[in-house]
Amino acid sequence: MRGDERTQLLWGIMPIFNAGGSAKPEPGSIAGAGYVPGIDRLGIPALRETDGSLGVSYLLGLRGDYSTAMPSGPAMASSFNPQLVREIGSVMGQEARAKGFNVLLAGGVNLMRDPRAGRTFEYFSEDPYLSGVLGGASVQGIQSHHVISTLKHFAFNAQETGRKYVNSVIGDGPGRESDLLAFQIAIERGQPGAIMCAYNRVGGKQACASDYLMNTVLKEDWDYKGFVMSDWGAVWSLDSALAGLDQQSGAPLDPEIYFDAPLRNAAHSDPAYSKRLKDMNVRVLTSMLAVGLGNEAPKPGGAIDFEAHAAVTREAAAQGIVLLRNTGVLPLSASVKSIAVIGGFADSGVLSGGGSSETHGMGGPAISVPRTAADRFAKQLTHQYQASAPLAAIRKRASKAEVTYRDGRYIADAVAQAKKADIAIVFATQWTTEGFDVPSLSLPTGQDALIEAVAKANPNTIVVLETGGPVFLPWKDDVAGVLEAWYPGGKGGEAIADVLFGQVNPSGHLPITFPASVEDLPRRIIPGSDFLTPSFFGTEPTPGATLDADYSIEGSDVGYRWNARKGITAAYPFGYGLSYTQFRLDHFTVGEDSASFTITNTGTREGADVAQIYLLSHDGRPMQRLLGFARCDLAVGKSCKQKVTIDPRLLARWRDGQWTIAPGDYLLGLALDAETIVQRQTVHIEGRSWN
Ligand code: GLC
Repeated sequence: MRGDERTQLLWGIMPIFNAGGSAKPEPGSIAGAGYVPGIDRLGIPALRETDGSLGVSYLLGLRGDYSTAMPSGPAMASSFNPQLVREIGSVMGQEARAKGFNVLLAGGVNLMRDPRAGRTFEYFSEDPYLSGVLGGASVQGIQSHHVISTLKHFAFNAQETGRKYVNSVIGDGPGRESDLLAFQIAIERGQPGAIMCAYNRVGGKQACASDYLMNTVLKEDWDYKGFVMSDWGAVWSLDSALAGLDQQSGAPLDPEIYFDAPLRNAAHSDPAYSKRLKDMNVRVLTSMLAVGLGNEAPKPGGAIDFEAHAAVTREAAAQGIVLLRNTGVLPLSASVKSIAVIGGFADSGVLSGGGSSETHGMGGPAISVPRTAADRFAKQLTHQYQASAPLAAIRKRASKAEVTYRDGRYIADAVAQAKKADIAIVFATQWTTEGFDVPSLSLPTGQDALIEAVAKANPNTIVVLETGGPVFLPWKDDVAGVLEAWYPGGKGGEAIADVLFGQVNPSGHLPITFPASVEDLPRRIIPGSDFLTPSFFGTEPTPGATLDADYSIEGSDVGYRWNARKGITAAYPFGYGLSYTQFRLDHFTVGEDSASFTITNTGTREGADVAQIYLLSHDGRPMQRLLGFARCDLAVGKSCKQKVTIDPRLLARWRDGQWTIAPGDYLLGLALDAETIVQRQTVHIEGRSWN
């Protein structure tokens, strides 16, 4: 490389023409999140980058195309099915490449430290092991099509309020045992070509300028060989390069394009920068070669089998649906005579989340309301419904029934319809988006009152939730059935009907705790939400302003672990999920590095179950951690014998630069969910340390 070539791969633009991105369409770029020109002379391809974790993003429709809209992160994670998540990744990678992209900004593995966080719908879980396993599977699938996947956002990016300057406060030990462990496991399993550093600060330092995160943890301790790209508009200084940042993304959004001439000049005079400059290029090129990008960027217009991909998103949505309550009303019979469908725009489609991860299925959304027209980027946040209407799918399943629909704005009218029907199904929605957290876990727009009224009018009331994450369910004991469908993607309406009528036996298990009360959370409110003016980019209100999110309160005890430490009972615990059949878990045996058990289908129909293995305590002190899980699809009467290997880091603490398993008695549990332990076994461990 010579001259300007030496920094050409180290910064990119945001080629969203005429929408506040680059000044002019760069030759060779296509509308997407990012573009890094290649070097033809050296056979180095351009990097064309698009979002996101849930499919190829629509990005204001600038390309005029569509993609397969995958269900949300919690929906994928509810399947506890790494093979399925890998297949989802493969579909996303194939579509990205066919559209001309060779980088997919996917792999959102931030832990859901606060269920009110706006991007919960993009992430997998509150648990580091589940997040790491699924994050790694997604990356494997994406990169199998020679498309670099990221993992993001590195690290502790757990709220949207003040997201570009909030300071995540957590010690090295608890951090390594939680958020960082999710990244570490996902990197080991997926080998992502790139890591995206986050907007927020960690320990007072901007994540994209954090020597601790990028050099000490990622490149030294974990020996990561790929490259670190910044988030968009997350670079404030040239010395970010010395802290380990390798590529400045969307560089025109930053105060300066530091990784262009300023970097070359610094490298000319400063050996540290000269060494870094070489390493930055080596890392980008290493990932290009490792993922097999070839010498040219892919040509747009490649073939996509949307029909086959639709089957994948429908299966993913169905496996992600969690049956939370069923008094016997489900599955519905196809001969049911009358159904009152109410609310949730069920006559139009299914909800999806807002922001850079937004995908539009074929034909675009059924409904799309921009969050605001007042901000060039916030227009990207649309309150949209994928064009997959549950009402049409229900009518198709119950073709002989009278199926009415009311939008639910007039409760009396909805009640009148419910009174007349055999079954009432209320669709309840909670829109969430990048850039903004939700003020409460209560369902918005008076939906609780609607549900209560309908439940009083009809004892066979079923609630279908389309939410970004957990919500409060004050009416849960007053209804006959509750399904959590999350944001179920481009075939979500059909998937919901498949489960309602039993074509699919629900097998989802919660990847995040549904708390019973806000008092049960480590923080009463999202830090900053009581005084900050909400804004998409969340920039500091005054230069140098500070905002701390103190995650040292819970440390690595996120979600179910927090509940175990504090003796709190959830509304619905992590790992919870019902089925239309029954299962028995037994033959539980444990060793220091593995656990075995059997799942048997003891019911009257086929179905899949997810058994979980937890650490419950060490020498009698509560210390709950998911150690492993297994999913089995079983015909009636059939069993599966499972053996899960236990990652020793899940039994350890990270202190003073190493993992240590303290000697003592470790109580392990075979469980249906984090609060329902069916068998217990103790294993004595002598203890050891390693790093
Ligand atoms: C956004 C997001 C990031 C996304 C990037 C490019 O602000 O934080 O997840 O990949 O910018 O759109």
